[in-house]
Amino acid sequence: MNAFGFATAGRVLFGAGRAATELGPVVAGLGARPLVCTGADPDRQAALVARLPDPRVIFPVAGEPTVDVLRAAVEAGRAHGADVVVGLGGGSAVDVAKAVAVLLRNAGDPLDYLPVPGPPRDPRPGVPCVAVPTTAGTGSETTMNSVFAVPEQQVKVSMRSPVMLPTVALVDPLLTVGCPPAATAASGLDALTQCLEPFVSINANPVTDGLAAEGLRRAGNGLRRAYADGSDVAARTDMSVCALLSGMALANAKLGAVHGFAGVVGGLLPVPHGVACAALLVPVVEANVRAGAAAQRYRAAAALLTGRPAATVADLVAWLRETVSELAIPGLASYGLRPEHAEQVVTKAASASSTQGNPVVLHEEALHRILAEATSG
Ligand SMILES: NC(=O)c1ccc[n+]([C@@H]2O[C@H](COP(=O)([O-])OP(=O)(O)OC[C@H]3O[C@@H](n4cnc5c(N)ncnc54)[C@H](O)[C@@H]3O)[C@@H](O)[C@H]2O)c1
Repeated sequence: MNAFGFATAGRVLFGAGRAATELGPVVAGLGARPLVCTGADPDRQAALVARLPDPRVIFPVAGEPTVDVLRAAVEAGRAHGADVVVGLGGGSAVDVAKAVAVLLRNAGDPLDYLPVPGPPRDPRPGVPCVAVPTTAGTGSETTMNSVFAVPEQQVKVSMRSPVMLPTVALVDPLLTVGCPPAATAASGLDALTQCLEPFVSINANPVTDGLAAEGLRRAGNGLRRAYADGSDVAARTDMSVCALLSGMALANAKLGAVHGFAGVVGGLLPVPHGVACAALLVPVVEANVRAGAAAQRYRAAAALLTGRPAATVADLVAWLRETVSELAIPGLASYGLRPEHAEQVVTKAASASSTQGNPVVLHEEALHRILAEATSG
């Protein structure tokens, strides 16, 4: 067995309806001057924001964040004298909140703490951070990294440190009920992938195995239902559990080739992270299966996702393929990925840190085949 460690958010509070009653008191217990990072439309969460301590400052995060967005958020937090940061939105808003909370107590520019252009500085602990996801997807509420695009270098990189773990993760499935079908599909398939990759990862450990397995079971129950009927609270709850557990699993067992490719493709083109993962999922599973990797694990995943104990690896691939199609995930060509990008993407994906967790080393030909399949959809 691998030697292992385990770290997660300081406290996890989960339950439908808890944000309305508990977010205000939780934040007030940690600070008096919050910076609140929301999605593009802060009005969506106006009722919750109104319960937060005043004076407060709202920082809307429109789209997946760049380093410039992070820089602006840090400036807003410093100008306000923020002593607590709240991330109330999808993974984009939560990622910004986590990084700002740390950077408020660390001098210098955000780039100093990112692995480009040089090696990152190790940050000291920041001000408290409360992560409140409104998508069921990234699990950022329990991970120790935040992802930022650096457009000049066409890469997406992580600010990563154990001090990035939120002080409190407050997960309320009711907050995801308004999530539109396309975002439900992309974020839900991200969460599923973030359970499957740690489950077959070379860094898997007994703690992450249990978390990832339960996350897969929840995705099998809830993903298609949450997409078909966004008001189905039981399905939304399954997916919020899946996302929460996926964050715990990936933070402690790492990922695989799906995420290795997704980071590179997302740095090159404006593909939403969840869509990139969803489009790559079946081609990567098939490549790993063809290479004979993790057969027992994939069989177990087949049973968990389909709910049939005797399900085979072929059933797993069929279930994933049907789900990606039912959830209307487009091929990556529709975001501008072209055959001429392949060489560059494959080279970078092969050496990406996520790819190092893949259960088998995939050679160049296999990587090209994965990318071609994900491109055509
Ligand atoms: N830190 C991590 O561990 C981690 C893991 C995976 C992905 N990520 C990053 O997270 C980002 C993606 O996050 P995401 O998939 O949650 O998408 P997102 O936060 O970008 O949100 C997607 C869209 O849905 C909208 N939205 C969110 N919640 C909504 C709701 N309840 N109702 C209506 N609309 C809503 C947003 O405004 C946005 O338009 C990417 O930048 C990705 O790289 C981080």
